[in-house]
Amino acid sequence: MSSSPSNEEVLALEDVSKSFGPVQALEGVDFKVRAGEVVALVGDNGAGKSTLVKVMSGIHHADSGRILFEGRPVTIARPNDAVGLGIATVHQDLALCDNLNVVANLFLGREEMDPGIGHVLRSLDETDMERRSHELLGSLAVTITDVRDEVGTMSGGQRQQVAIARSLLGEPKIVLLDEPTAALGVRQTAQVLALIKRLKEQGHGVVVISHNLADVFEVADRIFVLRLGRESGVYDADKVSQEDVVGAITGAKSGGNGAGGEE
Ligand SMILES: Nc1ncnc2c1ncn2[C@@H]1O[C@H](COP(=O)(O)OP(=O)(O)O)[C@@H](O)[C@H]1O
Ligand SMILES: [Mg+2]
Repeated sequence: MSSSPSNEEVLALEDVSKSFGPVQALEGVDFKVRAGEVVALVGDNGAGKSTLVKVMSGIHHADSGRILFEGRPVTIARPNDAVGLGIATVHQDLALCDNLNVVANLFLGREEMDPGIGHVLRSLDETDMERRSHELLGSLAVTITDVRDEVGTMSGGQRQQVAIARSLLGEPKIVLLDEPTAALGVRQTAQVLALIKRLKEQGHGVVVISHNLADVFEVADRIFVLRLGRESGVYDADKVSQEDVVGAITGAKSGGNGAGGEE
C-alpha cells in the first residue's frame, strides 16, 4: 500500500463548537483526516485538543457543527457509534489491565463490541488468541517478546504499543492517539513513532496529539494547530518550520500554508 496520503477524506468535522458551561473549548473548528495520513494535533494546554478527539470518539457531543464519515453526515453520540464507524481511540490512560497478559488485554471485552465480531472472537480458544496476537503484533513490528507477560511488568513504550494494537482489532479506518509519547523515553518514543508510521502504511488515517514538535515533524503529514479552541493554523509538515508552528501555538503567528485541504 502507498505511504502517501490519499485524497479521500475519511473523517471530516465542519464548524464544530463545544462548550463546557462558560468555557468555549472548541469554536468553529473544521478538521479532516484522510486515509493513510498522519495529522498531528498540537496546541498549548487547554487549547481543546483532547476535547476535539473526544468529539470524534463519541465521549463528548458537539454543541453545533457536522461530522462526515466517508462523505456522509453521521451522528457520534457515544463511543460505540465511533467504534462502529471505524474510529478507534487510544486515550492517555490506555485502560489496560496490569494483572493480565498481552493476549488477555488485546481480546478483553471484545465480545461486547459487535455481534458479528463477538461471535467469531468468542469461538476463539487460547491458542487461537495467542496466534492472532502474534500475527497482529508481528504485522505492526511491535517490540514485545512474550505475549504471555503481564502488561504491568512492561515498559511504558510496550504498554502504549499494546494499547494501540488493541485498538486495531476492530479494523478501524481512523486511529486517534492522545499523547502516545508523553510519558516515554527516547528509545520507547522511537518505537511508538515507528508504529504510527506502520499504521499509516497500512492505510489508516491517524490523528496524534503531541507536545513534542520533534516527534510531530517525524511522523506527521499535516499539522493542525489549536489555540483557545480555534484553529490557529494548518500546515503541510514538509512546508513549515518548527518556528512557525510554535508561532501558531502561542498566537504570535497564525494562518497556515493552505494544507487544510480546501483545494
Ligand atoms: N469535562 C470538562 N468539563 C469542563 N471543562 C472542560 C472539560 N474538558 C475540558 N474542559 C476545558 O476545556 C478546555 C479545553 O480542554 P482540553 O480539550 O482538555 O485541552 P487540551 O487537551 O488541549 O489540553 C480547557 O479550558 C478545559 O479546562
Ligand atoms: Mg489534552
